[in-house]
Amino acid sequence: MQTVHSLDPLRRAVAQLREAGPLALVPTMGALHEGHLTLVREAKKQAASVAVSIFVNPLQFGAGEDLDAYPRQLERDSALLEAEGVDLIWAPTVEAMYPQGFATNISVTGVSEGLCGAARPGHFDGVATVVCKLFHQVLPDIALFGEKDWQQLAVIRRMARDLDLTRPHVDQILGVPTVREADGLAMSSRNAYLTPQERTQAAALPAAMKSAIAGIEAGKDVADELQALEAALLDAGFHAVDYASLRDADDLAVLDRRSAQPMRLLVAAKIGKARLIDNMAVMPSSC
Ligand code: PAF
Repeated sequence: MQTVHSLDPLRRAVAQLREAGPLALVPTMGALHEGHLTLVREAKKQAASVAVSIFVNPLQFGAGEDLDAYPRQLERDSALLEAEGVDLIWAPTVEAMYPQGFATNISVTGVSEGLCGAARPGHFDGVATVVCKLFHQVLPDIALFGEKDWQQLAVIRRMARDLDLTRPHVDQILGVPTVREADGLAMSSRNAYLTPQERTQAAALPAAMKSAIAGIEAGKDVADELQALEAALLDAGFHAVDYASLRDADDLAVLDRRSAQPMRLLVAAKIGKARLIDNMAVMPSSC
């Protein structure tokens, strides 16, 4: 396994790996957990070689967010990736990613608006910009992302479609189902911010989501179910609910009733120092 921190050695390493066949990219910000390793294992099934990028992207953090506190643990991450048989780690410095005078922004409208886009202005511009750069730097045949960041995946697919990206082609941008702890909490690097008590309370998030989904699938009123979900989270110790929303799974249009198309329940809520997000599928009504 090679680790590179700047573009020239990256290009040499990528050229060499591409000779062996298809190359997969798993973009990450490090602080790897089982969710990331699941992406890597899936990538290994899909391609001859696997590259993992590790870059805490300043562009996607707003003022007052956790850019400085975000866990950085390259040595530990490298050991985990080596054990998984990863071929290349691309861990650019901030200067390598954003050279002096960097002035370009990729902004995807539509799917980036509302939900986390409303709560974190500029966040998805930062994500789209860095992911577009990662795709051009690594030229992967496929790229894998966790479905936990459902809106992010929609933004990246929209960008790939709109910018005619061929590497990876939009059909080769794969979403991998969320990996959960035993109590249902979605794995996230930000779970590390939770105290033991908050960690126990956080299990209310997937539980309340499942209960709302059961209600919606049973034909109950969507607004009532979302209101009950928010109340359950506040009761359990969350101090704010940024959103709890039923959306079309593809274009993220707001739904106020169960539809015949694939749907997703998306939630973001704050507990202690952590802002947790999650989403789950809701079964479409039969036509
Ligand atoms: O999901 C993440 O970890 C980040 O948003 C990503 C896709 C690596 C871009 O920085």
